[in-house]
Amino acid sequence: MQTVELNNGVQMPIIGYGTYQIVGQQCLMCVKEAISAGYRLIDTAQAYGNEIDIGEAIRQCGVPREELFITTKVWFRSHETGECRASVFKSMERLGVDYLDLVLINWPFGNTYAAWRDLEALYAEKKIRAIGVSNYMPSQLIDLIHFNKVVPAVNQVETNFVCQQQPLKKVMAKYKVAHQAFSPFGQGRFNAMFAEPVVLALAEKYDVSTHQIALRFFVQSGISVLPKTFDPMRMRENLDIFSFTLEDGEMAQLSALDKGKFLIGSSQDGDFTELAMTW
Ligand SMILES: NC(=O)c1ccc[n+]([C@@H]2O[C@H](COP(=O)([O-])OP(=O)(O)OC[C@H]3O[C@@H](n4cnc5c(N)ncnc54)[C@H](OP(=O)(O)O)[C@@H]3O)[C@@H](O)[C@H]2O)c1
Repeated sequence: MQTVELNNGVQMPIIGYGTYQIVGQQCLMCVKEAISAGYRLIDTAQAYGNEIDIGEAIRQCGVPREELFITTKVWFRSHETGECRASVFKSMERLGVDYLDLVLINWPFGNTYAAWRDLEALYAEKKIRAIGVSNYMPSQLIDLIHFNKVVPAVNQVETNFVCQQQPLKKVMAKYKVAHQAFSPFGQGRFNAMFAEPVVLALAEKYDVSTHQIALRFFVQSGISVLPKTFDPMRMRENLDIFSFTLEDGEMAQLSALDKGKFLIGSSQDGDFTELAMTW
């Protein structure tokens, strides 16, 4: 599996298996299947309610712990000093691991500074190999970097054809924060982007699916991706994107699909943030 080198030298697989809205026995089966298909990065979060199931899959999968890359995210209701730290230990207990590869602040809400300093301490104690953030927009990211010690290794943000995060990309490149794409398929709810003529034409040209064109486009841009699927065939399809290379002009055509429009939700949108406050 191709990797991305994080700003502290840690190697992170460029494709990971997303586990949002997969719980219980189905999560156990899906994560075991994903690992057997070749995924080594498993992306979860405290809010997904599936850390115990993923822990069971890690124990049963037959792949050594050190070959896996486990990411979880701290929920914003646990951001106060000490609470973030305790929540990370609870995550490790549920996952049955004694270290985590990557821990992210899930959303830039609540006492994010306290949470970040708890994560900095856990990183210094080598309980976490890399720490980062999620859903941070440019001003939030720059602010966090300037008033803390550790520069986030990763910013996991919604990224798909219509939401390519152009302004954020410049900031992340400047501070060497790796771009990780969540909802690369818009959660399967916005499929018009896969019916764009350029996407259909490239899928036909390279004899791959439209979804493989999307993943190839992001990976070829140096962005790591977290596709989610319940389907074992699609798990393999979503990994099978290294046998073709998009030409420069094709990359430019796909870049032009960007509308700078969030499909899932922006942490700087008032209505979305009001809704998030009820979570
Ligand atoms: N940090 C955050 O705030 C945040 C937010 C959202 C998501 N995430 C992470 O990012 C991961 C991925 O995002 P997501 O779960 O929101 O959705 P997504 O990966 O964008 O889309 C999942 C949808 O795409 C379909 N799909 C998957 N592979 C396909 C293929 N090859 N062809 C056609 N359809 C395909 C799936 O259907 P089937 O399952 O039926 O195949 C499902 O409906 C999450 O699971 C989670 O780990 C993070």
